[in-house]
Amino acid sequence: MILANALFGAWLLSAAPTAMADTCQGPIDHPGEAFSYVQPINTTILSPYGHSPASLPSPNMTGNGGWELALLKAKQFVNTLTVEEKSWMATGQPGPCVGNVLPIPRLNFSGLCLQNGPQCVQQGDYSSVFVSSVSAAASWDRQLLYDRARALAEEHKAKGSHVILGPVGGPLGRSPYNSRTWEGFAADPYLTGVCMEETINGIQDAGVQANAKHLIANEQETQRNPTFAPDANETTYIQDSVSSNIDDRTLHEIYMWPFANAVRAKVASAMCAYNRLNGSHSCQNSYLLNHILKGELGFQGYVMSDWGATHSGVASIDSGMDMTMPGGFTLYGAFWTDGSYFGGNLTRAIQNGTIEMSRLDDMIMRIMTPYFWLGQEKNFPSVDASVGPLNYDSPPDTWLYDWKFTGQSNRDVRSDHNDMIREHGAASTVLLKNERNALPLRKPGNIVIAGNDAGPPMQGPSLRADFEYGVLAGSIGSGSCRFSHLSTPLEAINARARKDGSLVQSFLNNTLLTTTELTWPLWNPQQPDVCLVFLKSFTGEGEDRTSLELDWDGNAVAEAVASHCNNTVIITNSGGANVMPFADHPNVTAILAQHYAGEETGNAIVDVLYGDVNPSAKLPYVIAYNESDYNAPLTTAVYSNGTYDWQSWFDEGLEVGYRYFDAHNISVRYEFGFGLSYTTFNLKDLKPKCSAPSKLTALPAKRPTEPGGNPALWETVYTLEAEVSNIGDVDGFAVPQLYVEFPSSTPTGTPPSQLRGFDKVWLPAGKKRTVTFELMRRDVSHWDVTAQDWRIPVGSFTFKAGFSSRDFRAKYDVTLIKA
Ligand code: BGC
Repeated sequence: MILANALFGAWLLSAAPTAMADTCQGPIDHPGEAFSYVQPINTTILSPYGHSPASLPSPNMTGNGGWELALLKAKQFVNTLTVEEKSWMATGQPGPCVGNVLPIPRLNFSGLCLQNGPQCVQQGDYSSVFVSSVSAAASWDRQLLYDRARALAEEHKAKGSHVILGPVGGPLGRSPYNSRTWEGFAADPYLTGVCMEETINGIQDAGVQANAKHLIANEQETQRNPTFAPDANETTYIQDSVSSNIDDRTLHEIYMWPFANAVRAKVASAMCAYNRLNGSHSCQNSYLLNHILKGELGFQGYVMSDWGATHSGVASIDSGMDMTMPGGFTLYGAFWTDGSYFGGNLTRAIQNGTIEMSRLDDMIMRIMTPYFWLGQEKNFPSVDASVGPLNYDSPPDTWLYDWKFTGQSNRDVRSDHNDMIREHGAASTVLLKNERNALPLRKPGNIVIAGNDAGPPMQGPSLRADFEYGVLAGSIGSGSCRFSHLSTPLEAINARARKDGSLVQSFLNNTLLTTTELTWPLWNPQQPDVCLVFLKSFTGEGEDRTSLELDWDGNAVAEAVASHCNNTVIITNSGGANVMPFADHPNVTAILAQHYAGEETGNAIVDVLYGDVNPSAKLPYVIAYNESDYNAPLTTAVYSNGTYDWQSWFDEGLEVGYRYFDAHNISVRYEFGFGLSYTTFNLKDLKPKCSAPSKLTALPAKRPTEPGGNPALWETVYTLEAEVSNIGDVDGFAVPQLYVEFPSSTPTGTPPSQLRGFDKVWLPAGKKRTVTFELMRRDVSHWDVTAQDWRIPVGSFTFKAGFSSRDFRAKYDVTLIKA
C-alpha cells in the first residue's frame, strides 16, 4: 500500500496535476513586495554557533495585523505623559501583584497588575486550580487548551489581573531533567506551538493580556542566574548565568518555533529569560529581541524581563527590552531611589540624550497598545485586596505606593470551572499499559489503594516545597497554586466504592510498604480484585531534577505491591518523564500517567479508571528505558571559575526528544505521541486532498511582515487526508498524527520524523471519518542559514500518519519542489 501511495504521488505531480478535483486554495504568492523590516545579518558568523550579532536600533511597532486603532489610542495616551511617568511605566514596583505598574490617577489609568501563572491565579483565594500545562498538552486537544485558558483568564480578570505571566513556550524539555517542563507543554516545537496559540487566544479572548515566556532556550534552572559574592549588596559577579549556545537553524526550527506561533496569535508581551543566549543575556540580546522577535517575527507587543533578568539599563533598552520586572526602589539614607536599572536612571538617560525619546515612546506604546486593544481601559475589575497578602514576591511591608483597593475583596471567581477541570483531568490522563483487560474497572469487590500520592496533602492549600503525604496536583515556584478544594484519589475512589459496595483498604505509607520486615500480604481477607498504586514525582522551579525515578521509593513500592497483587495498576502524578522499570512486571497490568491534574485530580482519575471516560491522551515526551538513554544533559557544574564559564552547548542540534531517539534508532519504553484507549482505532488511505500547487517556490515570496513573520509561511501549501476508524466496541477520541520525513537534499542533522499535524476526533464504535492535515509552508521548510529564510527542499517528502511517533499506519511520498 505504501508503494502504491508513493507511485500515486509521483504520478500526481508529474503527469496529471489537474486530473483530480482541486478544491483547495493554493498559496498566494505576492512577488515583488518587500519585507517591512528585517535587518540584514552577517550570516558568516552565525555558524558555527556561539554568536549573537548586534542588531540595532530596536524596531518601532507599527500596529499592523489588527492593532492599528489601539496604537492610535496608545499614541494619544503617550502624548499626555511626562518623561518621569513614561520611565516609571517601564519599571515595575512592589505592590499587590507579582508585577505592578503604578497607576497614574490624573489620567484615570489604574496601573497594570501582572500575575502568575499558567495553571491558576497564583495569589488567588476562592479560585480554581486547572490542569497543568503539560497535562493540557497531553490531551492533544485544541478546544481543551482554548477552554482552559479562557476560564483561567476569566478568573484572573475577576481578580484584577491585566496580564497573565504565561503561557510557557520554554523550557521545551530539551532534557527531561529540567524542572519546569510541567509549566510548559511538550518536548516538541510543533505541539508546543499549537498549545501556545490556543492558550493565548483563550486568554486574550477573555480580555486579559498573555505573556509568552521564557524567551529563549531557558532549558535549565541550574545557574539560570548569575552567582554573586556574598558582599553587602550582592552585586559582585562570581559567575554569570549559563549561556545556551545554539546554532541558527536549531534556534529557528526548535526553540523559536513556538514563540512564532505566540506572536502570530498576537501575544501582548514576551518575557526574556534568565539565561544567556549565545553569550549575551537574553534581555540585552539585540539579535534575539530586535532582529528575530521584533524584526523577523513582527512582534508588536512589549518585552518584559523575567524577575531580575535585567542586567543593564541602556544596553537592554537599545537591545529591545521594554519593561523591567520587578523593578523597584531601594532606600539610600533618607531617600528612596530607584534600585533598578530603569526608573530614574531611564529618565536621566533620556534627559542626557543617551536614549532617544522615540525609543521610550515606542516602549510605552508597545505596553499600552494591547491594553487598549483588549479594552482594558473600560470597566476592568479592580485588583482584589486579598491578593496582596498572598504575594511572596513583594509582600505588603515592601510596598511604597499607597495602593487603594476598591471593590469586594476575597472574590469567589471559580464559577462552575471545577466540572471543566474534572473533564480536562480525565482527557489529559495517558493510559500507557492495559493488559488482561485490567481497565476499565468493573465494580471490583475488593480494592487496595497504595502509595503516599493517594491522600490529601498535609501542609496547607499552597505548595511551597516537596512533601511526603498527599497527591501532587500542581507544584512549586511561580507556577504554584492555592487550592480552594482538592479532590484526592483516596476520597474519590472511596466515594465510588461506597456506591458499588466494594471493600477499600488503603496503605499510604511508602516506607511501610517497602519495609522488608512487613508480613505480606497486608490486605484481608482475600486477594484484592485490583491494587491501585499512586506514585509521584516532584519537580519545580529553581532546582532541576537529579533523577527520573519516582519519589519516595516509588519503584520499590510498585514492585512490592505487584509481587503480592496480581492486578496492580500504577498511577503517576509527575511533572514529566519517569523511568518505569515496574512496567515489565507481569502483575503490573495497567499504568496511567496523570501529570499534575489540578483540583479535580481524584475525580478525574476515577472517571478514567471506571471507564466513564475513555482515555485519549498521548505522551508529549518520550519515556525511555533508562535515564542514560536521554541525550542533551544539563550543564550541572563547571570546573573553572571564569566569569563566563557556564556554557551549555546545544550541539545535539535538532535532535531534541523523540527526534534524537529516532535518529539513533534507540528503543524506548513509550514513545512521543503514544497513549492507549479502551477501544482500537485504525488509519488508512493517506492521500492528498488536492494537488500540490504547481508554482510553489522554494523560498517564500517576500511579503510585508505581520505578527508571526512573513505571512507566506503560514499559508497552506499542501493538504493530506486519511481515513480513521474505530474498530473496537467503545466510543472514544482518536488522535491521528502526521509526521514528515524531509527529502534527502535537506541539510544534515534533519531528524527522521517531525510532527507536522494532528487532530482529535470523536468516533463512536464502528464508525469512521476522514481527517485532514493542512501543511503550511513553514511545516515543509527548513531554516536556510545562508538565505536566512525558510526553504522547501527539493526532492521527495514522506508523510507518515498514525497514532504515535513510532506507530505509522499509512505513508505518502510527494515532491513539492523539483530539482
Ligand atoms: C519566573 C517567571 C515568573 C516570575 C514572577 C520568575 O522566577 O521565572 O516565570 O513569572 O518569576 O514570579
